[in-house]
Amino acid sequence: MYPIDTSVETTHVVLPPDTNHYGNAFGGTIMSWMDIIAAICAHRYCKGACVTVCVDELQFKKPIKLGDIVTLKARINHTGTTSMEVGIRVERESFELDEDGCYKHPTKTHCLSGYFTFVALDEQGQPRPVEPIRPRDPIDIKRNKAAESRRRDRLARKSR
Ligand SMILES: CC(C)(COP(=O)(O)OP(=O)(O)OC[C@H]1O[C@@H](n2cnc3c(N)ncnc32)[C@H](O)[C@@H]1OP(=O)(O)O)[C@@H](O)C(=O)NCCC(=O)NCCS
Repeated sequence: MYPIDTSVETTHVVLPPDTNHYGNAFGGTIMSWMDIIAAICAHRYCKGACVTVCVDELQFKKPIKLGDIVTLKARINHTGTTSMEVGIRVERESFELDEDGCYKHPTKTHCLSGYFTFVALDEQGQPRPVEPIRPRDPIDIKRNKAAESRRRDRLARKSR
Protein backbone atom coordinates (compact mmCIF):
# COMPACT_ATOMS: atom_id res chain seq x y z
CA MET A 1 0.00 0.00 0.00
CA TYR A 2 1.14 3.56 -0.71
CA PRO A 3 1.21 6.09 2.17
CA ILE A 4 -1.50 8.21 0.52
CA ASP A 5 -3.87 5.24 0.68
CA THR A 6 -3.46 5.15 4.47
CA SER A 7 -4.63 8.76 5.00
CA VAL A 8 -7.20 9.48 7.69
CA GLU A 9 -8.65 12.89 8.52
CA THR A 10 -10.79 13.88 11.50
CA THR A 11 -12.30 17.20 12.50
CA HIS A 12 -13.28 18.50 15.93
CA VAL A 13 -14.58 21.74 17.35
CA VAL A 14 -13.05 22.92 20.62
CA LEU A 15 -15.86 23.12 23.19
CA PRO A 16 -15.80 24.55 26.76
CA PRO A 17 -15.01 21.18 28.48
CA ASP A 18 -11.93 20.88 26.21
CA THR A 19 -10.41 24.14 27.50
CA ASN A 20 -8.80 25.66 30.56
CA HIS A 21 -9.90 28.99 32.07
CA TYR A 22 -7.79 30.90 29.53
CA GLY A 23 -9.82 29.37 26.71
CA ASN A 24 -6.89 27.26 25.47
CA ALA A 25 -7.50 23.62 24.54
CA PHE A 26 -6.01 21.14 27.01
CA GLY A 27 -2.89 19.46 25.64
CA GLY A 28 -4.27 16.13 26.87
CA THR A 29 -7.43 16.56 24.80
CA ILE A 30 -5.40 17.19 21.66
CA MET A 31 -3.17 14.19 22.48
CA SER A 32 -6.24 12.01 22.92
CA TRP A 33 -7.56 13.09 19.49
CA MET A 34 -4.11 12.32 18.04
CA ASP A 35 -4.03 8.87 19.66
CA ILE A 36 -7.48 8.06 18.29
CA ILE A 37 -6.74 9.07 14.70
CA ALA A 38 -3.37 7.28 14.85
CA ALA A 39 -5.05 4.12 16.13
CA ILE A 40 -7.65 4.26 13.32
CA CYS A 41 -4.88 4.70 10.74
CA ALA A 42 -2.76 1.83 12.15
CA HIS A 43 -5.75 -0.47 12.68
CA ARG A 44 -6.96 0.00 9.10
CA TYR A 45 -3.45 -0.51 7.76
CA CYS A 46 -2.67 -3.73 9.66
CA LYS A 47 -6.28 -4.95 9.39
CA GLY A 48 -6.44 -6.08 13.00
CA ALA A 49 -5.48 -5.40 16.57
CA CYS A 50 -2.65 -3.03 17.34
CA VAL A 51 -1.37 -1.10 20.34
CA THR A 52 0.58 2.12 20.89
CA VAL A 53 4.15 1.24 21.89
CA CYS A 54 5.74 4.69 21.71
CA VAL A 55 4.75 8.35 21.39
CA ASP A 56 7.50 10.79 20.44
CA GLU A 57 7.90 14.12 22.20
CA LEU A 58 5.16 16.61 21.30
CA GLN A 59 5.75 20.33 20.98
CA PHE A 60 2.72 22.61 20.94
CA LYS A 61 3.86 25.43 18.66
CA LYS A 62 0.63 27.43 18.41
CA PRO A 63 -2.33 27.61 20.81
CA ILE A 64 -5.68 26.05 19.97
CA LYS A 65 -8.57 28.08 21.35
CA LEU A 66 -12.22 27.66 22.29
CA GLY A 67 -14.36 27.57 19.13
CA ASP A 68 -11.47 26.62 16.82
CA ILE A 69 -12.07 23.89 14.30
CA VAL A 70 -9.23 21.37 14.59
CA THR A 71 -8.29 19.11 11.70
CA LEU A 72 -6.05 16.10 12.24
CA LYS A 73 -4.43 14.31 9.32
CA ALA A 74 -2.69 10.96 9.76
CA ARG A 75 -0.88 8.51 7.54
CA ILE A 76 1.60 5.66 7.79
CA ASN A 77 5.13 7.00 7.27
CA HIS A 78 7.10 3.82 7.84
CA THR A 79 6.76 0.16 8.68
CA GLY A 80 9.20 -2.19 10.38
CA THR A 81 8.51 -5.90 10.67
CA THR A 82 5.63 -5.61 13.13
CA SER A 83 5.56 -1.87 13.85
CA MET A 84 4.14 1.15 12.05
CA GLU A 85 4.96 4.84 12.48
CA VAL A 86 1.91 7.06 12.11
CA GLY A 87 2.56 10.75 11.43
CA ILE A 88 -0.14 13.18 12.57
CA ARG A 89 -0.48 16.84 11.63
CA VAL A 90 -2.78 19.08 13.66
CA GLU A 91 -4.13 22.33 12.22
CA ARG A 92 -6.52 24.91 13.67
CA GLU A 93 -9.00 27.13 11.91
CA SER A 94 -9.80 30.19 14.00
CA PHE A 95 -12.92 32.21 13.44
CA GLU A 96 -12.17 35.81 14.33
CA LEU A 97 -14.41 38.83 13.92
CA ASP A 98 -13.37 41.89 11.92
CA GLU A 99 -14.13 45.48 13.02
CA ASP A 100 -17.65 45.19 11.49
CA GLY A 101 -18.40 42.08 13.55
CA CYS A 102 -18.24 39.79 10.51
CA TYR A 103 -16.25 36.58 10.49
CA LYS A 104 -12.88 36.97 8.79
CA HIS A 105 -11.99 34.30 6.27
CA PRO A 106 -10.56 31.53 8.48
CA THR A 107 -6.94 30.59 7.97
CA LYS A 108 -5.43 27.20 8.72
CA THR A 109 -2.46 27.21 11.08
CA HIS A 110 -0.18 24.25 11.74
CA CYS A 111 -0.10 23.81 15.53
CA LEU A 112 1.82 20.59 16.07
CA SER A 113 2.86 17.28 14.58
CA GLY A 114 3.37 13.94 16.27
CA TYR A 115 4.73 10.48 15.61
CA PHE A 116 3.06 7.47 17.18
CA THR A 117 4.43 3.93 16.86
CA PHE A 118 1.99 1.04 16.86
CA VAL A 119 2.61 -2.70 16.92
CA ALA A 120 0.24 -5.15 15.22
CA LEU A 121 -0.80 -8.04 17.44
CA ASP A 122 -2.02 -11.57 16.73
CA GLU A 123 -4.74 -13.44 18.66
CA GLN A 124 -2.22 -14.30 21.39
CA GLY A 125 -1.29 -10.64 21.85
CA GLN A 126 2.12 -11.20 20.25
CA PRO A 127 3.63 -8.88 17.60
CA ARG A 128 2.71 -9.98 14.09
CA PRO A 129 4.19 -8.87 10.75
CA VAL A 130 2.61 -6.01 8.78
CA GLU A 131 2.63 -5.40 5.05
CA PRO A 132 5.59 -3.13 4.14
CA ILE A 133 4.56 0.41 3.22
CA ARG A 134 5.66 1.47 -0.28
CA PRO A 135 6.71 5.12 -0.35
CA ARG A 136 6.52 6.25 -3.97
CA ASP A 137 6.64 10.01 -4.48
CA PRO A 138 9.53 12.21 -3.28
CA ILE A 139 7.65 13.56 -0.23
CA ASP A 140 6.74 10.07 0.95
CA ILE A 141 10.31 8.86 0.41
CA LYS A 142 11.61 11.81 2.43
CA ARG A 143 9.09 11.12 5.23
CA ASN A 144 9.99 7.43 5.19
CA LYS A 145 13.71 8.18 5.55
CA ALA A 146 13.05 10.64 8.38
CA ALA A 147 10.86 8.00 10.07
CA GLU A 148 13.62 5.40 9.72
CA SER A 149 16.00 7.76 11.51
CA ARG A 150 13.45 8.43 14.29
CA ARG A 151 12.96 4.67 14.66
CA ARG A 152 16.73 4.20 15.18
CA ASP A 153 16.69 6.92 17.84
CA ARG A 154 13.70 5.39 19.63
CA LEU A 155 15.19 1.94 19.74
CA ALA A 156 18.50 3.37 20.94
CA ARG A 157 16.65 5.20 23.75
CA LYS A 158 14.76 2.01 24.61
CA SER A 159 17.95 -0.01 24.98
CA ARG A 160 19.59 2.56 27.30
C1 LIG B 1 3.68 -3.80 22.02
C2 LIG B 1 4.33 -4.96 22.75
C3 LIG B 1 3.46 -6.20 22.58
C4 LIG B 1 5.68 -5.18 22.10
O1 LIG B 1 6.32 -6.15 22.85
P1 LIG B 1 7.92 -6.31 22.74
O2 LIG B 1 8.32 -7.44 23.63
O3 LIG B 1 8.57 -4.98 22.89
O4 LIG B 1 8.05 -6.83 21.27
P2 LIG B 1 9.28 -6.75 20.32
O5 LIG B 1 10.56 -6.49 21.06
O6 LIG B 1 9.17 -7.98 19.46
O7 LIG B 1 8.98 -5.45 19.44
C5 LIG B 1 7.86 -5.41 18.59
C6 LIG B 1 7.98 -4.18 17.74
O8 LIG B 1 7.84 -3.05 18.56
C7 LIG B 1 8.92 -2.16 18.35
N1 LIG B 1 9.17 -1.49 19.61
C8 LIG B 1 9.26 -2.06 20.83
N2 LIG B 1 9.48 -1.10 21.74
C9 LIG B 1 9.51 0.07 21.09
C10 LIG B 1 9.70 1.42 21.49
N3 LIG B 1 9.89 1.77 22.76
N4 LIG B 1 9.68 2.36 20.54
C11 LIG B 1 9.47 2.06 19.24
N5 LIG B 1 9.28 0.80 18.81
C12 LIG B 1 9.31 -0.18 19.74
C13 LIG B 1 10.07 -3.05 17.94
O9 LIG B 1 11.04 -2.34 17.21
C14 LIG B 1 9.34 -4.04 17.08
O10 LIG B 1 9.10 -3.47 15.80
P3 LIG B 1 9.59 -4.18 14.42
O11 LIG B 1 9.02 -5.57 14.44
O12 LIG B 1 8.97 -3.36 13.36
O13 LIG B 1 11.07 -4.16 14.44
C15 LIG B 1 4.51 -4.68 24.27
O14 LIG B 1 5.55 -3.71 24.44
C16 LIG B 1 3.25 -4.18 24.92
O15 LIG B 1 2.29 -4.91 25.11
N6 LIG B 1 3.23 -2.89 25.31
C17 LIG B 1 2.05 -2.26 25.87
C18 LIG B 1 1.18 -1.67 24.76
C19 LIG B 1 0.03 -0.89 25.33
O16 LIG B 1 -0.64 -1.35 26.23
N7 LIG B 1 -0.18 0.32 24.78
C20 LIG B 1 -1.09 1.29 25.33
C21 LIG B 1 -2.50 0.98 25.10
S1 LIG B 1 -2.89 0.76 23.42
